[in-house]
Amino acid sequence: MLNYVMEYSELLKSFKKIVEIDGHKILVVLLADQVYAIHDRCTHLGASLSKGTLEDKSVTCKSHGAKFDLQSGEVLDKAHVGFIKMPTKKTVTYQTKVENGKVYIEL
Ligand code: FES
Repeated sequence: MLNYVMEYSELLKSFKKIVEIDGHKILVVLLADQVYAIHDRCTHLGASLSKGTLEDKSVTCKSHGAKFDLQSGEVLDKAHVGFIKMPTKKTVTYQTKVENGKVYIEL
């Protein structure tokens, strides 16, 4: 089901925003003209990915460096403390659609 979440112009100003749909906190990101939607909580210890670093279609968690593909949710780099890597699970991503200046997420 497609859910309206915000105006595209709003995303153009902030480039990222957390929305909540049916209890799911979702980080919506505008990166290189593409809109992505990813579960906001890091699968490692639950930090908000909204505070992470965005680059190359990925988000890196600020807490321990876990890096997730914004499109697939795949782990590109595991969480780590120093050189010690920790188990990190794939996360959930959502299909997005922009139509008539409005952003929608499929859920
Ligand atoms: S909580 Fe995200 S890497 Fe640890």
